[in-house]
Amino acid sequence: MFWLLLLIFKFIQSPSLIDAQSQQLNTSIWMEQLLPQIGHLHLYDITLPGTHDAASFIITSALSPDPAGDPFLDDIIKIAEQFGIPVQDIIIPWAESQNRTLFEQALDGMRYFDLRAAYNGSDWFSYHFDLGLPIIKHLAGLQKFLQTHSSEILIIEVSHFAATNLTKDDLNGLRKIIMDLLSQWLYPRSDNFITINEMIEKNQRVIVTFSDDETIENFPQLWPASTMINSYANSDKVDQMIAYNQKQVENFNAILSLPKNALYKLSWTLTPQTSTIIESILGGKIKSLKELANIGNLRLSSFARPFQAKRMKLCQILLIDFQETSNIMPVIFRSILNN
Ligand SMILES: *[C@@H]1O[C@H](CO)[C@@H](O)[C@H](O)[C@H]1NC(C)=O
Ligand SMILES: *[C@@H]1O[C@H](CO)[C@@H](O)[C@H](O)[C@H]1NC(C)=O
Ligand SMILES: *[C@@H]1O[C@H](CO)[C@@H](O)[C@H](O)[C@H]1NC(C)=O
Ligand SMILES: *[C@@H]1O[C@H](CO)[C@@H](O)[C@H](O)[C@H]1NC(C)=O
Repeated sequence: MFWLLLLIFKFIQSPSLIDAQSQQLNTSIWMEQLLPQIGHLHLYDITLPGTHDAASFIITSALSPDPAGDPFLDDIIKIAEQFGIPVQDIIIPWAESQNRTLFEQALDGMRYFDLRAAYNGSDWFSYHFDLGLPIIKHLAGLQKFLQTHSSEILIIEVSHFAATNLTKDDLNGLRKIIMDLLSQWLYPRSDNFITINEMIEKNQRVIVTFSDDETIENFPQLWPASTMINSYANSDKVDQMIAYNQKQVENFNAILSLPKNALYKLSWTLTPQTSTIIESILGGKIKSLKELANIGNLRLSSFARPFQAKRMKLCQILLIDFQETSNIMPVIFRSILNN
């Protein structure tokens, strides 16, 4: 009898069965479908998939204001002058880091969104070197997703505010856009996340973090920037990125007592450097962030497997560029079904 049970147990855990199970899942309602496995857990117990620079699927040709200055952007402008190439021809291939709207990303399974906001003097936009669409449009897409998917949870990190002479009023305006569109679903800040089932039952299915503590001081519906524990390799070399993330995952698994109100991010992203751009102009093979991202994305699954075989978690939020060409969802499903 014992051996029979052991055999069944082994069969249940077999990787091929997990893969077959994960192929049956529908990415737009995967949390709902996996509630029997994850409902009693907290967000910090699982790994959520998400997008880095989520909103940069469309960028305009308007440079974003950034008084702090971005040395990388300054380099691009210098390179453009040196090579006599229009600045936008250099920026755009390296600024687009996704190719689906936030609504479509949510349908694809993404549950975390890195939303960076710039103020042009009258409105708030997403940006990545250049401005993108109005923040209101991005959030309206996620609002539509929440309205049509009643058991899915989203995390939205609003950060990297860029503007010339940003005022308190401007920041309050951004907070108002968020509150107007999402307040009915906001899970207020707390010292201890409730379970996934509880978040869904209360219909408090959205965590929004806002990177200015003063602006949200009297708005407990919003979470501080410190909720997100960030890391990224800042390298365009895939082996360096993998070695960095190997350490991150090992360190994460060595933490004895994880915080109950914060989430660790793992960035499966390659970051172009000034040399990457120069090489692309001089005839190198990599001409865009999409091509760079694909090099990393191809390695994600094999990176994750040894950890998953040891029942180690990767992190709490796994973020990626060009998610639609990656296999992040099978990796996430394997992590969840494995446990
Ligand atoms: C996934 O679920 C959504 C929402 O229930 C549904 O509209 C869609 O048709 C499903 N897709 C597949 C491939 O079953
Ligand atoms: C985005 O998708 C469209 C349509 O599928 C495609 O034509 C375009 O090349 C894609 N752009 C990037 C940067 O991937
Ligand atoms: C900000 O962008 C909007 C939309 O493009 C435009 O109408 C407005 O004039 C811009 N504001 C400033 C101060 O440039
Ligand atoms: C920003 O503020 C500085 C100092 O007050 C001022 O000189 C500058 O004109 C302002 N810029 C804009 C775009 O308002």
